[in-house]
Amino acid sequence: MDPRKKERMERMDGTVIRELAEKSRSCRGYAPTEVKKETLTKLTDCARLCPSGGNLQALRYKLSWESETNDRVLKATRWGAALPERHLPDPGKGARAYIVICLDTAAAAEATPAMYCDVGIAAQTICLAAAEKGLASLMIMNFSREGVANALSIDGRFRPLLVIALGVSAEKTALEERKEGMPPYWRDENDVHHVPKWPLEKVII
Ligand SMILES: Cc1cc2nc3c(=O)[nH]c(=O)nc-3n(C[C@H](O)[C@H](O)[C@H](O)COP(=O)(O)O)c2cc1C
Repeated sequence: MDPRKKERMERMDGTVIRELAEKSRSCRGYAPTEVKKETLTKLTDCARLCPSGGNLQALRYKLSWESETNDRVLKATRWGAALPERHLPDPGKGARAYIVICLDTAAAAEATPAMYCDVGIAAQTICLAAAEKGLASLMIMNFSREGVANALSIDGRFRPLLVIALGVSAEKTALEERKEGMPPYWRDENDVHHVPKWPLEKVII
């Protein structure tokens, strides 16, 4: 079969999204490879097309791709709270870019549950699009709102709701089948990051 036709069929089948979802593991250690502003712009272009409750579209995006601002954002975020002894990321392994998803308070004074759904949809779209470009990512909610706003000189009108770290992965990850009593994630003696997921038969009710 014509490889392009095969690719199109696979896309219709959802295979591409399944593969990207599997590949798109949270990454807490990045290689020094820079991420260009243009790449962040393209990822944001995917996010702006996402569904939005009532099509209110109250989200705005602040981009960071320079080492100076990246370092400032990193200081305002907390990575891997379930592994406090690891102090992730290791020195020099912070993200090479960030996209901060913000609420435009001129469009909505408070973030409603629907808006938090918008945030999740936009964030996962950015992360899957990044995975398609060979970039790893990490969604971060454990951050200082003030710290991130100051780091990127974000106008007070825009309230940071979620930070997405981006870059080329310098980590090894392993997907596991989740069993009762397992921790949310763990590292083995070779620093491989293990992520357990419930099997399909458990999650379909
Ligand atoms: C809404 C949300 C907020 C998160 N916040 C953080 C965070 O603040 N710091 C962090 O290290 N990881 C954070 N994560 C990453 C989760 O820990 C990660 O998704 C989980 O361990 C499963 O790993 P996986 O993404 O590879 O499937 C967040 C993930 C989501 C979806």
